[in-house]
Amino acid sequence: MASMSRHLIDPFNRRISYLRLSVTDRCDFRCSYCLPQDHRDFAEPAHWLTFDEIEQVVRAFASLGVRRIRITGGEPLARRRLSQLAARLHAVPGIEDLSLSTNANQLKKHAIALKAAGVSRINVSLDSLRADRFMEITGTGRLPKVLEGLMAAKAAGFAPIKINMVAMKGINDNEIPDMVRFCIGHGFTLRLIETMPVGDTGRHAVDHYLDLSEVREQLAQEFDLVPAVMPGGGPARYLQVRNTDLRIGFITPISQHFCETCNRVRLAVDGTLYLCLGQENSVALRPLLRAGISDMDLGEVLTAAIAKKPERHEFREQPEKIVRFMSYTGG
Ligand code: GTP
Ligand code: 5AD
Ligand code: SF4
Repeated sequence: MASMSRHLIDPFNRRISYLRLSVTDRCDFRCSYCLPQDHRDFAEPAHWLTFDEIEQVVRAFASLGVRRIRITGGEPLARRRLSQLAARLHAVPGIEDLSLSTNANQLKKHAIALKAAGVSRINVSLDSLRADRFMEITGTGRLPKVLEGLMAAKAAGFAPIKINMVAMKGINDNEIPDMVRFCIGHGFTLRLIETMPVGDTGRHAVDHYLDLSEVREQLAQEFDLVPAVMPGGGPARYLQVRNTDLRIGFITPISQHFCETCNRVRLAVDGTLYLCLGQENSVALRPLLRAGISDMDLGEVLTAAIAKKPERHEFREQPEKIVRFMSYTGG
C-alpha cells in the first residue's frame, strides 16, 4: 500500500484532501434549482459502485492524504444501508472527518445509526421555514418532516449542524432574517449559497440569482456581524452574530469564487471522478474497479487524475457548460 505520508497536489499547487462522495443520484425531492419535476433518468443500479468499490476508492484516496469524506447524493439517505457504508468509511485509516449532506426528509429514522457509524457532522438543505413555500421549492418536500429530521439529528448529538439555504431573489430572500433567528434559537450554523448554473434547472434558477454581498450588507444593518472561523472543509466564509453562537457562512461561487483554495474532487455514483463541479474533466473509475485494479495502481490513476484538475469553474463566462444535474454530483 502507498505510504500514508503521500499527498495529492494539483497543477495549481492545491492540496486535495476532501472527497465528495455521491452514493446515489436519486432524490425524494425535486428542488427547483436542482432537478426537473418530471425527472426520471437516473443511473442504472448496475452502474452504481458497490460498497466494496466505494471503500476501495476511499482507501486509495486516504493513502494519498485525503482526510475528509462528505457523503452526498442526490439524497444520500435514499441509498439503502447507508449507515453500514458510513461505518466502513469511518474505519478507513486516515479518514478524520466523515460528514453527510442531506435534505433531512428521512433523517429522523437514520440519525442515531449514522451517529453510531461515525458520521460526525451533518449539513441540511433548508430553503424556507414556511410550509407552502417549502413545498413549492422542493416539489415533494414537507416541511414538518424535515424539521423532525433536523431535531432528531440534534438529539442524536451531531455538532455542528449546518443549514444550507440557497438564497433566491423573489423566492426566499425575505426569509433570511427569520432563518438567522431560527438558527440562533436552535444552535445551528447558517450557510447562504448563491445559485449556480449547473444543469438546465440550475440555469433557470439563475434568474433568481442573489449576490450575497448585498445580503451581507442588509444583515449587517440588523445584526452585529464580526469575522469568524468554523471547522469544515468547504468554501464558506464565515461571520458571527456578536453575543450569540451563530455563525453565518457565505458560499459565493459567482460573486467571489473560491477556486484558488479548492481542496476537493467528486465521485459520482457510477464511479466517474469529477475534478471540478464546474467542468467536465473526469476519469471513469468503474471499469478499472470492475477489472480488479489493485490499490497501488488505483493510487497511480488518482494521482494522474489530479494532475488534470482544472484551475476553476467558468459559471460566469460559460453558464451553458454543465449539462449534468446538481443531484448527480451532489453539489
Ligand atoms: P463543510 O465541510 O461543512 O464546510 O461542507 P461543504 O460546504 O463542503 O458541503 P455542503 O455539501 O454543505 O456544500 C454546500 C454548498 O457548497 C453546496 O451548494 C455545494 O454545491 C457548494 N460547494 C461545495 N464545494 C464546492 C466547489 O468546489 N465549488 C462550488 N462552486 N461549489 C461548491
Ligand atoms: N445552485 C446552488 N446550490 C445548489 N444546490 C443544488 N443545486 C444548486 C444550484 N443550482 C445545493 C443544495 C444543497 C447542496 C448540496 O447543493 O441546496 O444545499
Ligand atoms: Fe434533492 Fe438536494 Fe437536489 Fe433538492 S437539491 S432535489 S434535496 S439532490
